[in-house]
Amino acid sequence: MDSQELQRLKNKYDIVGNDAALSHALETAVAVAPTDLTVLITGESGVGKDVIPQIIHQFSRRKTGKYLAINCGAIPEGTINSELFGHVKGSFTGAVEDRKGYFEMADGGTLFLDEIGELPKETQAMLLRVLQNGEFIKVGSSKVQKTDVRVIAATNISLRTALQRGEFREDLYYRLNAVQIMVPSLRERKDDIYLLFRKFSSDFAEKNNARKVSLSLEAISLLKNYRWPGNVRQLKNIAETVTALESSRALPGATERVELSREQLAPYIPDEHDELLPMAAPSQTGGTGLNDDEKRAFVQAIVDLGQKVERLEARVKAVEEARSEAAFPQSPAAADDEAEWQDQGTPEITIRKASDALIQKALERHGGNIKEAAEELGISERTIYRKLAKMKEEKA
Ligand SMILES: Nc1ncnc2c1ncn2[C@@H]1O[C@H](COP(=O)(O)OP(=O)(O)O)[C@@H](O)[C@H]1O
Ligand SMILES: [Mg+2]
Repeated sequence: MDSQELQRLKNKYDIVGNDAALSHALETAVAVAPTDLTVLITGESGVGKDVIPQIIHQFSRRKTGKYLAINCGAIPEGTINSELFGHVKGSFTGAVEDRKGYFEMADGGTLFLDEIGELPKETQAMLLRVLQNGEFIKVGSSKVQKTDVRVIAATNISLRTALQRGEFREDLYYRLNAVQIMVPSLRERKDDIYLLFRKFSSDFAEKNNARKVSLSLEAISLLKNYRWPGNVRQLKNIAETVTALESSRALPGATERVELSREQLAPYIPDEHDELLPMAAPSQTGGTGLNDDEKRAFVQAIVDLGQKVERLEARVKAVEEARSEAAFPQSPAAADDEAEWQDQGTPEITIRKASDALIQKALERHGGNIKEAAEELGISERTIYRKLAKMKEEKA
């Protein structure tokens, strides 16, 4: 693909940036499009993964067929098999008639399975089969059906972890991973940050009849050196907020564009320090002083961290147990003391409690609606289900 073609592609899909890794991702998408290879898209949340499967579909011979995008993390575990593969009437309470699943609906087309790491094991087996030979069976049926679907999957970095923990089938991983397209994080393409900022500011200004915002060199450097845990999605949010607030603050009729200094931009960029301890830094705006995106990024970080700590904890415990059992067998009383001590605020427990509390608060705010709470926090519904199950277990 020459540079003109690449630029045309970016224009068509409203993609901004000159980063080589991003361009490589786009070129790979176009190159594999005409094949029927399964593609795995990887990259942190908010990097811009969603456009890749659309490009693949539209550059393929399947472009006249259906394109369906499914978020595996948003479908409850109990219904996911039926959603993907369909069910027959009477196969479970509420199955009042036969239903086609996405694999049947997308016959001849493309299925984009987002958050693939969230698939339950049983569903993974069914997916592997349909990838291997196009065969599937509806829930409650014994009839094998055929379909011709090209699968594109996406995941944030968590799939490797799921693999290591045995929660994701290795054979399925290799099957999905025939081609991998990596979308770089925003902090890996610093030179695109200001381009993106200007694009989002001018799009917003145009739509809302406001003035665009540009930045001084020092302000640009502030933007470039921030870590952007929520990637392009977070940058878009901040650019829009800045444009909305700062362009109305400028004197009417002053200039067409507003240029912000570093000091004027700084209040919109979260402190790196706040990212670690947002609850400890209430601001004049009240609450945590974080915008929605930052809250989401924080909650995701804390959930991830909590999981990491849990795993580490388990590993350390296993090693310690193996050691102490060999040396001095532990009395039950001593083990109890240890449990009590751990509950008094070791970091892992505190982190888990903080993330549980955030989830509970969000659920309260949304009257128990898990979907809305998950959306607000920017985590998958499945994560909330898991957390709830765990909390229940711990209470019991
Ligand atoms: N290079 C880019 N140019 C313009 N907009 C982008 C770019 N990358 C991402 N975006 C925008 O950022 C937001 C997040 O992208 P999305 O594809 O939803 O992220 P992901 O699926 O990786 O979580 C979307 O609004 C998307 O349009
Ligand atoms: Mg996405």
